[in-house]
Amino acid sequence: MDADPHQLTEKLFIHHPRMRQAQRMMERCRTWSQGAQEPYCLLVIGPTGVGKTTLIKDYLKNNPRIDTDVATTIPVLDAIIPAPASMKGMAVELLTKLGDPMAQRGTLNQQTWRLRKLLQACGVQLIVLDEFNHFIDRDNERVLRTVADWLKVLIDTTGIPVVLVGTPNSRSVLDANEQLRRRFGTQERLEPFRWEGDGRDHFRRFLKEVDERLPLPERSDLDGPDMAFRFFCASAGTIAPVMKIVRKAAHLALDAGMARLELPLLARAFAEDPGDPDGPNPFVGALPGKVVAPSAPPQPAVSKRLKGKGGNEMPSFAAS
Ligand SMILES: Nc1ncnc2c1ncn2[C@@H]1O[C@H](COP(=O)(O)OP(=O)(O)OP(=O)(O)O)[C@@H](O)[C@H]1O
Ligand SMILES: [Mg+2]
Repeated sequence: MDADPHQLTEKLFIHHPRMRQAQRMMERCRTWSQGAQEPYCLLVIGPTGVGKTTLIKDYLKNNPRIDTDVATTIPVLDAIIPAPASMKGMAVELLTKLGDPMAQRGTLNQQTWRLRKLLQACGVQLIVLDEFNHFIDRDNERVLRTVADWLKVLIDTTGIPVVLVGTPNSRSVLDANEQLRRRFGTQERLEPFRWEGDGRDHFRRFLKEVDERLPLPERSDLDGPDMAFRFFCASAGTIAPVMKIVRKAAHLALDAGMARLELPLLARAFAEDPGDPDGPNPFVGALPGKVVAPSAPPQPAVSKRLKGKGGNEMPSFAAS
């Protein structure tokens, strides 16, 4: 192996079908908006840890900026919406991303004017804004209307489509602003994997790919039915905790010279950051029990941190 396996572990990335679908929608916004009457905008929502930011990073990797001696072309401009969102904050963030050395300078009108010029000069075809939820004031849950209006005007004056990415509550920003809502009629949801129906197969396929890409000499059978269920109990189907456990266990395995991820190693990785310190460890003892019906009360297996975030029914299990 030529690259450092620890680094490979951190870089481990799975291009799963839900992500591909969201990226297809982003691409559609970009291509359909060329010369369109109105730009095709998109809202991508999903609970924390499902991979929204990862999705953006991967899309950008495939649409990189091109620097030459004479010009910079930025087909896709990305930015993180500052918290709390403000017009000036947004303008500075976008100007900085476009390479304006004096992004902070000038009045808001001057900054907005420069932003429009630079967007045009850099050939920006799509703007992707992460953390759309920052359009809601955390302290009082109010929607920040002026910045929403500013964004609407930016879309209208430039004709550049915008993809807004955020947690599900950010939809209330659109509910509070009819004009913005009209521009973001198309919405894509990224959800945690489910244990019911084909969700289980999708989850196991994801684990299989993770297993195949781990820089270890042997496969760890992460997608076996028992192991997959343990992972589901530990994550409620959300990618972030799955990857945290796998990455940590892989680092431990590499340090110990082990060929694969064994159950005790996964148990140790989970125990180091269990979310709910009082909850059971799904990688210890007998296999977790059956999946409970959606109406049954959630069991303590899944960390408090994850409960209810993905709208997933929680599996119960009795660790022994
Ligand atoms: N497709 C993927 N392949 C590998 N790892 C992934 C994938 N998607 C997400 N992850 C991992 O899950 C973690 C959380 O991902 P990410 O930050 O993209 O989530 P998010 O939806 O943006 O969360 P938040 O709403 O809290 O910002 C990261 O460690 C990331 O590496
Ligand atoms: Mg994110």
